[in-house]
Amino acid sequence: MGFYRFVSPLLRAMDPERAHRLALAFLRSASRQPWLLAPWRHRPLDPETGLAVEAFGLRFPNCVGLAAGLDKDGEAVPALAALGFGFVEVGTVTPRPQPGNPGVRLWRLPEHQALINRMGFNNGGAAALAKRLQRDRPRVRVPIGVNIGKNRDTPAAEAASDYVRCLEAVYPVADYVVVNVSSPNTPGLRGLQAAPVLDELLAALEDARARLAQRLGSRPCPLLVKVAPDLTVAELEDILAVCLRRDVAGIIATNTTVARPGVTGPNAKQPGGLSGKPLFPLSNRVVAAIYRRSGGRLPIIGVGGIMSAEDAYAKIKAGASLIQVYTGFVYGGPGFPARLLADLKRLVARDGFRHVREAVGVEADRWPDP
Ligand code: FNR
Repeated sequence: MGFYRFVSPLLRAMDPERAHRLALAFLRSASRQPWLLAPWRHRPLDPETGLAVEAFGLRFPNCVGLAAGLDKDGEAVPALAALGFGFVEVGTVTPRPQPGNPGVRLWRLPEHQALINRMGFNNGGAAALAKRLQRDRPRVRVPIGVNIGKNRDTPAAEAASDYVRCLEAVYPVADYVVVNVSSPNTPGLRGLQAAPVLDELLAALEDARARLAQRLGSRPCPLLVKVAPDLTVAELEDILAVCLRRDVAGIIATNTTVARPGVTGPNAKQPGGLSGKPLFPLSNRVVAAIYRRSGGRLPIIGVGGIMSAEDAYAKIKAGASLIQVYTGFVYGGPGFPARLLADLKRLVARDGFRHVREAVGVEADRWPDP
């Protein structure tokens, strides 16, 4: 802890993407030399603590996961799991490696505890990720999700073949796969959320999954869909209808927003996706709306603006069975997941719940429709 207090101002003084690369390089080293994490290593909670979750046919040792985009290429999964995350989502990966958008593409808004990014799926490709996960998987005891997308230069009409290629590459190493149709930084990507287009995309993925499961003699890998916070209720309802008709295991709500709710300052106007504290109410509304409409048939991974255990708990009470963090981890440092877990455990017990699942959706009606 003391060490991070010393390092943290240095990281904040750096260009944000450089600081990110440095932090990831440290976590990559720590994946091979676990002693580096000694100050923050999370002692796994006793399974009786009530934060473990079963969902999508998987067992999560706790309900707090790392959101997609921080470790796009799966370089540091063992270290991230050692910090306490109950699951780690890597990606977004695309079939072919790509550099992402040019120039400065990540901004801090510390006064708002927020980030704006327009990274644009910079990644080393699905095959390279699969190879890395194959190597590291035996050392990781938490579910690993893989978030997939399309290359920037693939026309929207051919998007499905990109997603299928990603699925084929990562299938043997993923516990669940996320169909990302909600990042704002790949032109046309969010258009894939339109019901008829999404239906076609999911149909192609289901066919591919059936073939892969048969070939590998495994049970079909759960597919989840990650949605944007900027949808109207009508759009959201159409998406849910498609997901329920197709064999979608759950929804991740939400990605970053193109809105700028209450956000001011020199970087506020940068185009891209806003994450962190200002996203919290927007994404909670989407979580609650999905929860109310799906009647528990589509478990939700709630993500967006969780900066404390209180926020995590509110997201669960809005309807999330599991939660993920990104920006809170960036601002909170390596001790953030362990702190979140300890505090969340206290909050759940305070309210007389024996298990976190009892709190899911109890305050869904507090959040109006988006
Ligand atoms: C993201 N996020 C993201 N999501 C995704 O599905 N694929 C991706 O590649 C990325 N990349 C990415 C990069 C950066 C720099 C940020 C800040 C975010 C979105 C992320 O997974 C999450 O949905 C949002 O950030 C909201 O959560 P937080 O950050 O408010 O906890």
